[in-house]
Amino acid sequence: MKLKKGILLIDQHDKNYLYGKKFGGNYIPETLKKPIADLTKLFKKLRNDKKFIMERDYYFKNYIGSPTPFIKLENLTNYLKGAQVWTKVVSEANGGAHKIYNATVHALIAKRAGKKYIIGDTGAGYAGKMLSMAAKKFGLKCKIFMGTKDIKRQKPNCDAIKKNGAEIIPVNTGSKTLVDAVSECMRYWVSNCDKVHMCVGSTVGPNIFIKICAWSTAQISRELMTQIKDEFGKVPKKLKLINCVGGGSSAAGFWNEFMDYNKKQVEFVGVEAGGPKNSKKHAAPLTYGSKIGILHGAAQYVNQDIEGQIEETESISAGLDYPGVSPLHCFLKDTKRARYTAATDEAALSAYKLVSSLESISPSLEPSHAFAEAIKIAPKLSKNTIICVNSCGDSYKDKDIIKERLGSYTR
Ligand SMILES: Cc1ncc(COP(=O)(O)O)c(C=O)c1O
Repeated sequence: MKLKKGILLIDQHDKNYLYGKKFGGNYIPETLKKPIADLTKLFKKLRNDKKFIMERDYYFKNYIGSPTPFIKLENLTNYLKGAQVWTKVVSEANGGAHKIYNATVHALIAKRAGKKYIIGDTGAGYAGKMLSMAAKKFGLKCKIFMGTKDIKRQKPNCDAIKKNGAEIIPVNTGSKTLVDAVSECMRYWVSNCDKVHMCVGSTVGPNIFIKICAWSTAQISRELMTQIKDEFGKVPKKLKLINCVGGGSSAAGFWNEFMDYNKKQVEFVGVEAGGPKNSKKHAAPLTYGSKIGILHGAAQYVNQDIEGQIEETESISAGLDYPGVSPLHCFLKDTKRARYTAATDEAALSAYKLVSSLESISPSLEPSHAFAEAIKIAPKLSKNTIICVNSCGDSYKDKDIIKERLGSYTR
């Protein structure tokens, strides 16, 4: 299995939409064949349409607030006494996370498709919050599907969704988390696809949703490439881009522009949710060698039991609490372009505590998983190694969990 240079990762599939002949595809019911084919055709046209690109870039700049800052974490670097630790503060984007890029592009596509309704899934609540924001901005009616466990643990984002005028559809099935929210959202779309546009909140699902999401989020690495060249004059000899991985959209967006670099120069490190320290449950299919299965219309490494039933996951972080992972990351793992590891709930909490006490940023529990890996490896690396962590969410949404686990929360 090999990656091709000069071709966007999202386009490196075969005629069956499979990456590396085995990941992804469109495993969909008959009724979705036409809506998926229509959306595929429309997106193919729009991504080559100069007017659409100009519109996208206008809203990236004037609505999302691109570019987000790229800063050095001086205190953390001095504390760790090894590699330099930098971060891209993607949580400074409008709404507070990378999910705004995908949501904005989907809203623009929905408008072009003449749809008045838009629906989406959410786990941490950010994908839902951003879709409700984009729907409000572009005059669309919006429904957000969310597991009841997540509704309880991500209250600030739920409040924001409601404030934006969207309806939250509580999902009470299965583990009551993201995986069930995506399933329920897709079920709704099957019956309503003539009137309704669906946004999948990460790089998962049938191929077209993976493509739209990664294509939108790639803006993060376009900005980072410019910022890195401005700061260092060129791409440094030793650069490590560390990102948490749930469905995989922030990591795909953070790495995209650097894909053709040799991995010895630009290493990609994906950090999955290892779950509670003494539990067998986790949300880390890439790290713990899960088998290939079908989830949400695509083949991928996915946590499953011996009969192939999807296994329940557990993570302190709602955004990473998902049993599968993007086919793009399965492909990057098998081609060995990216390295994947996991951080436990406890490691993520400690990383949150250290970073927010030393620095002015306050990462949510998802990027805290990535910071945990940075904190682990930085002391062993030389000063000329540049680590950059994607700080893709803000801790405010996790204030109740942090208060419960660490005794207090201040922002
Ligand atoms: C702040 C944040 N980071 C990361 C994730 C994980 O998703 P992905 O892997 O698609 O970036 C989420 C998902 O909700 C999130 O809200």
